[in-house]
Amino acid sequence: MWKFILLTVIVSTVGQRVINTAQGKLRGIPMDGYVSYSGIPYATINSSAGRFQKGGVAPTWRGVRESQQRHCTLSSRPEECLHLDVHVPAKTNSPWPVLVWVKGGSGQYHPGKLVGNDIIVVIVSHRIGPIGFLGMNNEKIPGNAGVKDVILALQWVRDNIVAFKGNPNKVVVAGQSFGAAMVEALMLSPISHNLYHGVILQSGSIMSPWAFNYDIIERATALGKLISSSDNISSILINSDIGELVSKCDKLDAPYFPFGISVDKSSKNEGRLLGDAPFELLKRKDRSVPMMIGHNSEEAYVFVSMLRQANVRKKLAKDLSFLLPEELKFMNEWELKQVFKQIEDMYFKDNTSLAAMLIYHRDAYFVNHIHRSVSLHASASDHSVYYYQFSYTGNAGVKPEPGIVKMGAAHSDELAYLFSNEVLDGEDVAVQQRMVQLWSNFVKYLNPTPQPSDLPHWETVNPSNPRLLDISTEVVMMEYPYRKAQKMWDEIYEKFYYSRNRITAK
Ligand SMILES: *[C@@H]1O[C@H](CO)[C@@H](O)[C@H](O)[C@H]1NC(C)=O
Ligand SMILES: *[C@@H]1O[C@H](CO)[C@@H](O)[C@H](O)[C@H]1NC(C)=O
Ligand SMILES: *[C@@H]1O[C@H](CO)[C@@H](O)[C@H](O)[C@H]1NC(C)=O
Repeated sequence: MWKFILLTVIVSTVGQRVINTAQGKLRGIPMDGYVSYSGIPYATINSSAGRFQKGGVAPTWRGVRESQQRHCTLSSRPEECLHLDVHVPAKTNSPWPVLVWVKGGSGQYHPGKLVGNDIIVVIVSHRIGPIGFLGMNNEKIPGNAGVKDVILALQWVRDNIVAFKGNPNKVVVAGQSFGAAMVEALMLSPISHNLYHGVILQSGSIMSPWAFNYDIIERATALGKLISSSDNISSILINSDIGELVSKCDKLDAPYFPFGISVDKSSKNEGRLLGDAPFELLKRKDRSVPMMIGHNSEEAYVFVSMLRQANVRKKLAKDLSFLLPEELKFMNEWELKQVFKQIEDMYFKDNTSLAAMLIYHRDAYFVNHIHRSVSLHASASDHSVYYYQFSYTGNAGVKPEPGIVKMGAAHSDELAYLFSNEVLDGEDVAVQQRMVQLWSNFVKYLNPTPQPSDLPHWETVNPSNPRLLDISTEVVMMEYPYRKAQKMWDEIYEKFYYSRNRITAK
């Protein structure tokens, strides 16, 4: 009886959880061990003309605003996307360190496990797709709107998280895949200065060919021309229906995502996200913070069905060129042939199996770019860089494709352990606990394995020989496993990517 009364008292006070912010009052929803304040608007956009521009001041309201589920998709109106969710431990020993999770797309993230380790989790939605990343290098369409949204969200966290018993001086920003590339863009930008104290980049880098566009105006122009024959492309893009922009993107002949992060030359200095190409900025970076960065051991497994359909093995027998990252630029046939030969010798010697294709894609689209980013950050930074490989193949995450053995962790598999609300069992539970512990330790201490700890010591990166922590049923430090291939990619990118794009980017 007493137990029952006590329980109802606790539930009803938690249920009443109303917080006062500068915008107005918010009511949270009690969850299992935490309280969620969802759908909080952190910025405004009032007109079609402003849809590609930086958002304005966050709205205010009277009375108590209820939590609400918002879904930001490719074709949402921009104001639908400028919302964040705050998940707060239902305990008393605050102030809590804060993890700000930057969504990569429109996926759902369940924060329960991380919040259970005594941190606040803030999930940030932002403009995505053409609305988030079209750029014409003019004031109406400067580019990078999605990343500028995240900066407004981080300012919101700085100014409001105290009301949620969060610590504004302990903020770690994290993302996965395109979300990781966006977080890396923040690290390279002068306008996000002092808004966070650590970063986590999972399976993505702004160095990846799918994350950054050198030809943003050409891409935006091509999209405009698919919609109208008028000469004023900016006007077409501003006045088109968002659904039409999104559906026409499918018709663009662009590899990977049609629109990514770009240099924005048009904005005045104080609003400019990136003034130069990422490689240049990474070399002279001076505003670094501690970071965790890594990849999954079989990133490319998510491409299995696509690679099967595309009948790549047949094409491969004739010509490799369709496989090369778009950003490699060759002056002549001879240069191209040299690179083909190197790649063929490395990956496809007497072997064009799907397994060989997956290894090639892992390196060409993910791992080699993450590794270059690790080396550059570690060289230019005084702060710790923690490098990992997630290699656990469990029951959660991407399901195995019939006929193709899943040898390691696919792209996004680690999210199934960090952000899942499924009940796991067996070894999966131990791996989940370890992941959550490493990640939340980094948020709390900017060190994933503070001593004393039952975890092995995670060495920081030595730029001359970056080693990494392999995370699976065991957790061990090891040599970077793909050194031979990395050497080849370093040479190829040194010759055929940076130097030439460096000229056109200026
Ligand atoms: C939208 O309108 C509100 C209220 O008038 C204003 O505070 C805000 O700055 C505007 N947003 C933009 C982007 O102009
Ligand atoms: C093109 O359209 C934009 C947006 O409507 C406008 O600001 C700009 O002045 C136009 N440019 C020309 C050359 O007409
Ligand atoms: C082809 O390469 C894959 C990946 O390295 C390997 O697993 C497979 O055994 C190789 N097959 C042959 C026939 O060499």
